Order: sequence, then structure tokens, then C-alpha cells
Amino acid sequence: MNQRKILVTSALPYANGGIHLGHLMEAIQTDIWVRLQKMRGHDCVYVCADDAHGTAIMLSAEKQGISPEQLIDAVNAEHQKDYAGFLIEFDNFHSTHSEENRQLSESIYLALDANGHINRRRIKQLFDPEKNLFLADRYITGTCPKCNADDQYGDNCEVCGSTYGASELINPRSSISGATPVEKESEHFFFALPLFRDMLKKWTRSGTLHEAVSNKLDEWLDTELQEWDISRDAPYFGFEIPGEKDKFFYVWLDAPIGYMASFKNFCERSDYNFDDYWRPGQDTELYHFIGKDIVNFHTLFWPAMLESTGYRKPNAVFVHGFLTVDGTKMSKSRGTFINARTYLDHLNPEYLRYFLAAKISGGIDDIDLNLEDFAQRVNSDLVGKVVNIASRCAGFIGKGFDGYLSDEMDNASLLSEIQAAKESVAELFESREYGKAIRIIMALADKANQYINEKQPWVIAKTDKQSVELQAICSTGINAFRLLICYLKPVLPSMAQRSEEFLAIEPLQWNDIDVLLTSHKINKFKPLMTRVEADKVQAMIDATQKAYDKQQSTNASAEKKSEAVEDTSGLEPEIEFDDFAKIDLRVAKIVSAEHVDGADKLLKLDLNLGLDKLGKPLNRTVFSGIKSAYQPEDLVGMFTVVVANLKPRKMKFGLSEGMILAAGPGGKEIWLLEPHSGAEAGMRIT
Ligand code: MSP
Ligand code: ZN
Repeated sequence: MNQRKILVTSALPYANGGIHLGHLMEAIQTDIWVRLQKMRGHDCVYVCADDAHGTAIMLSAEKQGISPEQLIDAVNAEHQKDYAGFLIEFDNFHSTHSEENRQLSESIYLALDANGHINRRRIKQLFDPEKNLFLADRYITGTCPKCNADDQYGDNCEVCGSTYGASELINPRSSISGATPVEKESEHFFFALPLFRDMLKKWTRSGTLHEAVSNKLDEWLDTELQEWDISRDAPYFGFEIPGEKDKFFYVWLDAPIGYMASFKNFCERSDYNFDDYWRPGQDTELYHFIGKDIVNFHTLFWPAMLESTGYRKPNAVFVHGFLTVDGTKMSKSRGTFINARTYLDHLNPEYLRYFLAAKISGGIDDIDLNLEDFAQRVNSDLVGKVVNIASRCAGFIGKGFDGYLSDEMDNASLLSEIQAAKESVAELFESREYGKAIRIIMALADKANQYINEKQPWVIAKTDKQSVELQAICSTGINAFRLLICYLKPVLPSMAQRSEEFLAIEPLQWNDIDVLLTSHKINKFKPLMTRVEADKVQAMIDATQKAYDKQQSTNASAEKKSEAVEDTSGLEPEIEFDDFAKIDLRVAKIVSAEHVDGADKLLKLDLNLGLDKLGKPLNRTVFSGIKSAYQPEDLVGMFTVVVANLKPRKMKFGLSEGMILAAGPGGKEIWLLEPHSGAEAGMRIT
């Protein structure tokens, strides 16, 4: 046999949340494929990792009061446990926040730059002036400019469906701080994607993609292919761009490189050689399994980056649709946004593996997990058909024949019919038409059951527990069961293992289909799979809903709590030292002071803050509510303390460009903070 050398990946789950059934649909699809390859004797390596970078992870760590590193370490352990719970067998599960990934990302970026494929441009973006953070569209909300719906996200309206730029929103707000975003310019780095148009047009049509996917891509390739912004400004959790200050790689630059990094990490503790799998012209194969939402990253940017930097491109990118539950998008409030852990608390992972396998095709249609259908399907196919074959035959073999199967089969043609499906089942698995493969397997299971029904071994056993015929019939049944389990093994590895123990055989390989089990002693039959219980499914939904409700109420009570703190102390919410350090306090000299027409508390003060960088006087006008305590002429020439970097505020009487600091109960008793004598305008107060 020609042994293939294959490297396979699933998309890297973000490290800012738990694994849910959507992720699992992808992992299960990939795992089945990989297990099939391994069973067929191919050398197949399956790697994955957490996608640990980006603003979302930075913010969620901040919210939890831990460092991003602490967050991603905890999540990584949890993710690995969840995947293992569903029998996903990675050869390596790594993290994009790893030394391997840093080195690879830097070297790939430097190569892109050296090849002239990185362009630098200044761009304007919305910026949160309180958080000091550039805002991605999803962090901006406001009123839709088209239909006036409130609370819409940065780039599109969920009410009227229109798309727009975040700066077109009416009354935009940063959803992080609530501040009004301002436009700010900074330098960004762009990958020259359009230069790769011809290569991509060819590559996307060279058997790498499902036709529906290539068609979608043509929409980009023929029109709007644009340079890709690969940099983000600090603060950002990611890798700093070499040779630059406060510039980071955009998370999507180093995420696919994470596939390489995970493999590299695997090579470090195995005999595999990195270049064998990542340099062009090798006899190895590379495949990525991904969801339809991340197609452009994997089929445009990624192959272009690989092409530019002298790496090989994937043989294919296998794109799947989304998992829906009971016909709609998974929803937290409905209890259908089901986490891996919640599922495992109530149900057997192989139920889901089987159910999804029965539904998966090679295409990009969504797949629905209908919960009634789920229980019904698993019970009727696995318990009612497959396990039933063994359970109806095993007892007679144990009792009448000391566990021995016969040498001759009663129905050799039934068994050879099952064996004959070997190639077509393998091909269907290979082309990810798992649903079709399962249909063939179940049709064969039906035939085996029919055969047993016709022969009625229980009737024969009543008269002669040791009849040769009875042994040959039950041995045929057990052999049929063994063949079916062999076909199902990529889908049901644990049930297959229990079956191997029952059959007292070595782990099944694909070619074991070609032989039968004769004159062989099997073990006592133990139930191999129990029925899905409807109340357990309901319990899982209830638990999901409960977790959601609980979270809602902790959010609410956390809000209340912080209000309570404010109430008793009378203080504003706490600020971080960093927030305090942002306040620029300066000594200011009051140059002039005057009454403001129509204002009974305010004085208008002209302040001098020393000299600016060009040596010109730095003056500020502020409006201050100190009229009850001071006559304007008393103030002129006084030194006081001013918050120099307060954002200018437009007031009824004019623009106020700062704030002077004073203390006291009010009325006549307002004391301006006066720096010690010898103060000079412009001195910083620290
Ligand atoms: N971190 C990126 C992938 C980087 S790959 C270099 C990402 N992460 S994700 O956690 O949002 O999604 C990971 C994978 O799960 C994606 O392939 C995505 O399509 C898939 N799914 C997430 N929700 C899904 C469903 N409801 N159904 C099926 N797959 C879904 O994207
Ligand atoms: Zn709208």
C-alpha cells in the first residue's frame, strides 16, 4: 500500500470562551476523517491550538482582573479537557501565544516585507478617548443612519440590514467605556493581497475547494480584492511587530501560522520533520477543516502569505456550514447555546458524534440538531440496529458453545455483501460524505437484523442449545456486527473499543474488513450503548438555560453592588493607578479673570501653562465655578493647579479647555490649590 503522509487541522478556537457544540461539529468532522486515515494505515497527524490573541481576550482578562496569560492558560486546559471528552484525538494541541508561533510569525512577516509585500499607510479610525484604544466596529454602537434603530453595531444594522461605516452611526458610543469615539490617525501595515490575484484564481479552482466556495470567492477575486490590514496599535494582546514600537500583528495574521507552530511543537517531541510538511515539492498532504465564516482568511490571505514566503499551500480547505439547534442559531436564552461541558454532564459524547456523522455532507449547508430527532435517531440506529445484532446472538454463543464462534458461517453471502461495501464506505468518508456512508452502513445493519429475524435462533435454542446450525447463525450475526463496528469505528471509537473487548480482538484496522472471525472465543456480552433518555436531553437544555439566567443575574447584581459601594462611601467608582497617571497636573498662572454675562457662578479665566515645545506661550481658557468666593481682580497673578489634559468641553458660554483644582465647602470658602512659592507656570505636579 502507498502510505500517505497527511497533516490535518481544525480551526483554532478563540481562547475567550468555552467550547460549544458548534466547535464540536467541526472537531468531530475532522476527527472522524483523521481516524479513518489512521485506520487505513496512513500517516496522519492532527494538530490544533487555541487562538489566544486579540482585543477580546485582552478585555476579558481585564474584566476578570487577571493577566491575558493567566486567562489563556486556564482556557487552554479547559478546552483540551472538553475536546478529550468528545474523543477528539489531537496529536498536538498548542497555543498561538507560543514561542514557536512568535518566531514563525516574525520570520514570515519579515519575509513578506523583504519581498515588498508589506505597505505602510496612515489611516483614520475611531478611537476610544477614555480607554485610549482604537475601536473595531464591533465595539461601537449607535443609532442606524438609515432607519434610526438604536443600539446597532459598528458596520451593519440588524433591524434594516443596511451596511455603513462606523463613523456614519448617529450618536456613536464605545461599548467598552461608553465614551464618544473620536477619529484618530495612525500608521498601519498592509499585506499586498491584490498582487496574488492570478495565483489565487488558479489555486481556488484546482480542486482545493468545494465549487460553492470557489464561486463565492470569485466575487472577491473579480472585484473587491483589497490590501489587508495586518497591524494593530497598542494596547493589544499579541506579538509585537519586529522593529516597530507599539505595533502588533493583527490576530488573524498569526492565527493560521498557529497551525505551523503547533506542528513545529509536535516535531520537537517526535520524529516528524517540519519542512517535510511545509515546504513545496514534498510528497505530503495538508488539509484545513474550517467553518464557512472564516473562508477568506484561509483561501485568500493564507495561501497568498504562504506563496510569498516560500511555503507550500494546502491541498484543500474543507469548509462546513453551521450547526443550528432545533432549526435556529444556537441561542443562550433559549438554552440551545450548549457548552461541551454541559452536554457531557448529561449525555454520552458518542451520541453526538453519531448524530452529526449521520448529517454531515461534504457541502456547506448548515446542519440542524433537532433534539427529538437526535434521541430517536441514535436509539433506533445504534441501540435498535447495531448493538441489537450482537445482543441477540452473543448469549447463545456463550451458553451453548463456551464462547466459541463456528468455523463455517451460516450465511457467507450476507457477510461478503457487507465486506463488499468497504471501498465505497471508505470513499464516502474520504470525501466527507459521512451521512451517505452511515446510510450504507445502516442499510447493511438492517439486512443483518432481517437475517436474524428470519432464522430465529431463539427458537432453535429452545430445542437444541448446541446445534451446529445455531452456532453458525449466531457466528454470522457476530461477524456482521464486527464488520459494521469496523465501519463505524472512526465515528464511535469508544463503542468500537468496548466491542473489541467483547469480541476479544486486537484494535480493528480498515483491512480487517477482509477477514472473518472464525473458531474464535469471544467474551461475555455487556451492553455496548444505552438509549438516549429524553429527560437527560431536557436536563441539558435546562442546565444551559439556568447557567444563562444565573449569569444574567450576577451581571445585574454586580451592577447593583457597585452602586451600593458608591452609595455608602459617596465616592465615584474606583479608578486604576493607570487612570490616575493619565491626569496631567500643571502649575498655571492666572493671567486674567472676568465675569461671564448671564452666569451666576462662573468666572472665565485665562491661564498660562508656561511654554509649549516650540517655545510659544501655552495658554488655556477655563470656566470655573468660583465666583462666590473670588473677585476676578483678586485672582490675576495667582498660581494654581490645573488639569491640563482634560478634553475640551463645550459649555453654554464657550469652550473650557481644562479645570482648575479647588477645595472647600462652597460659598465664600473655596480655596484654590496654591503651589508653594517659587512655582513657575507649566511645572508638572507629581
Ligand atoms: N479563531 C478563529 C479561527 C482561527 S483559525 C486559524 C475562529 N475561532 S472560533 O472559535 O470563532 O471558531 C472556530 C471554528 O468553529 C470556526 O471554524 C467556526 O466556523 C467554527 N464554528 C463556530 N461556531 C459554529 C457553529 N455554530 N457551527 C459550526 N461551526 C462553528 O474563528
Ligand atoms: Zn437600520
